[in-house]
Amino acid sequence: MNEKLIVALDYAYENEARELVSQLDDAVSYYKVGLELFLNTRGSIIDYLKHCGKKVFLDLKFHDIPNTVAQAAAWAASFGVDMFTLHASCGAEMMRTSVDTVNDICDKLNVKMPQMVGVTILTSFDEEGIARVGYKDNIANTVLNLAKLCQESNMRGIVCSPHEVAEIKKVCGQDFLTVCPGIRPVWAAKGDQKRITTPSDAIKIGVDYMVVGRPITKANNPREAALKIVEEIGGVTK
Ligand code: C5P
Repeated sequence: MNEKLIVALDYAYENEARELVSQLDDAVSYYKVGLELFLNTRGSIIDYLKHCGKKVFLDLKFHDIPNTVAQAAAWAASFGVDMFTLHASCGAEMMRTSVDTVNDICDKLNVKMPQMVGVTILTSFDEEGIARVGYKDNIANTVLNLAKLCQESNMRGIVCSPHEVAEIKKVCGQDFLTVCPGIRPVWAAKGDQKRITTPSDAIKIGVDYMVVGRPITKANNPREAALKIVEEIGGVTK
């Protein structure tokens, strides 16, 4: 088991997600829940994962005014999630207010403070796309600028590509967390991921958490695939 590995539960139905969690058993301790599964299970997948003793990365990418996000974030924290995402482009006030509100609720409920991580520029954007939205700088600079804004707003880190980690760590420091998709072991199909990194390279680069979906969820033997990744990660960190 390795807490750097987060398996993405990209399913529509709770029974499919539960089936994978039970197959992976003690090989995986951390799961990502996104919009589809969260909505379709009316949030109950969180209770299931917590009941199984798993960690939860709730990736709902909150994007709204400070008060609204802060209240949503407080609910996420009260469910006991371990990490969740907010859109950095909502600005410093939204992020600071949310961090403070979550801090307060965690103190009150005596629960552990979740790691709050920012979403910068979605990878579905290209340069023309962000220019049309109104960003004046290119994607790389905008990502760095938003990463700095997250840090100044007391967020714990950001979601990014492994290829951005070195620069982000240089600017924001080693303690600023990087949570990265786009991970492919050499033995797995690339799928639609274009710029990929192996689990061992991700560790060498300084990735703090890697979010892996299809190399595990679509493997003939998901548990074996997960264990191979855990072993690969362990081989580097030892
Ligand atoms: O199946 P795969 O390993 O590509 O899944 C990675 C997870 O990370 C999926 O949940 C996917 O939606 C998410 N993700 C991504 N690339 C991004 C942002 C999120 O693959 N840029």
